[in-house]
Amino acid sequence: MQIFHHVESVRAALKTERAAGKTIGFVPTMGNLHDAHIELVRIAQQHCDIAVVSIFVNPLQFGLNEDWDKYPRTFEADTAKLRAVDCNYLFYPDEKEIYPNGMAEQTRVIVPTMTDVLCGASRPGHFEGVTTVVSKLFNIIQPDVAVFGKKDFQQLAIIRRMVEDLCIPVEIIGGEIYRETDGLAMSSRNSFITQEERPKVNVLNRALNDAKSAIQAGDRDFFALEDTAKQTIVKAGFKVDYFNICNSKTLEPAANDDTNITILGAMYTAGARLIDNLTFTLSSEKK
Ligand code: PAJ
Repeated sequence: MQIFHHVESVRAALKTERAAGKTIGFVPTMGNLHDAHIELVRIAQQHCDIAVVSIFVNPLQFGLNEDWDKYPRTFEADTAKLRAVDCNYLFYPDEKEIYPNGMAEQTRVIVPTMTDVLCGASRPGHFEGVTTVVSKLFNIIQPDVAVFGKKDFQQLAIIRRMVEDLCIPVEIIGGEIYRETDGLAMSSRNSFITQEERPKVNVLNRALNDAKSAIQAGDRDFFALEDTAKQTIVKAGFKVDYFNICNSKTLEPAANDDTNITILGAMYTAGARLIDNLTFTLSSEKK
């Protein structure tokens, strides 16, 4: 695996690959790689000749009181995992390389409306930081395919929208959510969960599944279902950020006759903010 720190050098290497007729699959990450990230690399490899991963803990998508400085940085372990799956290139820039004119002066990419709800409501500016850095990374790597996880369902939807609106020539693929055996979605932030909290944090995933079962059984009182889920999470000792039953495409509150449903939830533990979601289709699962 070749590691590049600079825009120019990674571009030059990929230009050679492209000239040789190779297709490029890209997985942007913030590092601290776990099995879910590695699965995204495998998906990129299934679709393309060359796999490129980026590791950049993007300061632009973190709020002032968020955990940018605490975010786990595990470069040696990350490179070992990427080498083990034969990833071809790692792009590992520093802040100056990505924001040479400083963050305040950086041109921004803004996807309206769907960035203001759910995670966007509690993390103002977060998605603007994501779309800005992802469009820069797309321009640097110029991939044929880019792979994102469904764990960050809203992020995936926003990136699809950005690509459509800006006519960016890349195919976006969504990778399934990778979970621990008790249902907890894998996340770099799981290392912030205390030992005492750990057995209880899968309450978020259980609440999602309970709401899904109720909807599949015909319950359409979404407000009541959301309320029950929030109470379950609070009873387990956590603070709810949001728990919303949404239309999968628009992320707006689901209508009674919607068939593509995504339930999204976020909660705070003592040291982490955890998110999870569940998507299902009513018509095919009603039988
Ligand atoms: P990061 O949190 O490192 O995640 C990188 C990719 O891995 C994202 O597409 C995310 O959805 C996916 N991922 C993480 N945990 C997952 C899980 N349990 N199952 C499936 N996929 C999972 O998301 C980001 O970085 C950043 O916002 C980024 C897109 C790199 C822009 O800075």
